[in-house]
Amino acid sequence: MIRAVITGSGSALPANCVTNADLAERVDTSDEWIVERTGIRQRYIAAEGETTSTLATQAARRAIEDAGVDAAEIGLIVLATATPDHTFPATATQVQNALGCNGCVAFDVQAVCSGFLYALGTAESLLRTGMAKKALVIGAETFSRILDWEDRTTCVLFGDGAGAVVLEARDVAEDGPGILSTKLHADGAHCDLLYVDGGPSTTGEVGKLRMKGREVFRHAVVNLADVLREVLVDAGAQAADIDWVVPHQANARILDATARKLDLPAEKVVVTVDQHANTSAASVPLAFDVARRDGRIKEGDLVMFEAMGGGFTWGASLARM
Ligand code: ACO
Repeated sequence: MIRAVITGSGSALPANCVTNADLAERVDTSDEWIVERTGIRQRYIAAEGETTSTLATQAARRAIEDAGVDAAEIGLIVLATATPDHTFPATATQVQNALGCNGCVAFDVQAVCSGFLYALGTAESLLRTGMAKKALVIGAETFSRILDWEDRTTCVLFGDGAGAVVLEARDVAEDGPGILSTKLHADGAHCDLLYVDGGPSTTGEVGKLRMKGREVFRHAVVNLADVLREVLVDAGAQAADIDWVVPHQANARILDATARKLDLPAEKVVVTVDQHANTSAASVPLAFDVARRDGRIKEGDLVMFEAMGGGFTWGASLARM
């Protein structure tokens, strides 16, 4: 059967690391409050000239090198971001040009923190229909540019970064590698709980992120547990079969609560929120790349990806490495 197999990964972070103590000099907060409520200790913030497309290109180059493919072989680029370089063209086309694979299919998807799951599901479907043989799936963000740096309830939570994977269509055995099941959902009724108060068609300004954190938290735990169960049922797998969960890194308490709901031991959950904070669409591929490169995620492992974000949007995907 034809499956989309993850054959490489890469990630990129800005050089500028901002600790909680650094933030406490700008807004009325403390390292203690941030660590206790979120698990975040530091985040990376893009410098002038560093953009979503430059971070995405760096991550993509590393993923291509890791997969041992040539940029010219890439037939599809799907880039997830809520902070594109420009309203248009799609940031994916900037990355395509920088990589030198002009001519292939390239577009952005926008599902905020679930963006990478949406991009992965889209790319996987297109590979299985034969539209392309090799794809780059990228999550990249510069959320620092849409934060209200006077609002302590949101500005401490986010960071910038990018992650990418190479997906290849391969004819594999039933128990072979590849994406086994992906489920995606959206519910636009809750857009007032997490949104940006601007946009080209409303204010004409870029706007700033607004969030009712406590309510988002409640929805996140319920929706994530539901979609994880849905994917397991669809793939005919049990929670106990999972080797690693690579969740969206929003908040250490959401990660703990979701793992508990599924009876998954905390040791199986990849956690990078302490180092990177919430990098929105970049957080899942960034965490995946960290855990692959440090040797935790190995060939043959069963890996669950999951995310929830503004919209609301949420989704999960189960893959054999
Ligand atoms: N430093 C110090 N105090 C703060 C800060 C801060 N940075 N931010 C808020 N506070 C204060 C509040 O003003 C409030 O004070 P008050 O009681 O005097 O009014 C108090 O801390 C408690 O505020 P809450 O908002 O109720 O705190 P809560 O325990 O809910 O934690 C948090 C807030 C961390 C945002 C949490 O709700 C959360 O993580 N929610 C999930 C949201 C999220 O991660 N969204 C990301 C995108 S969506 C997703 O990825 C799931």
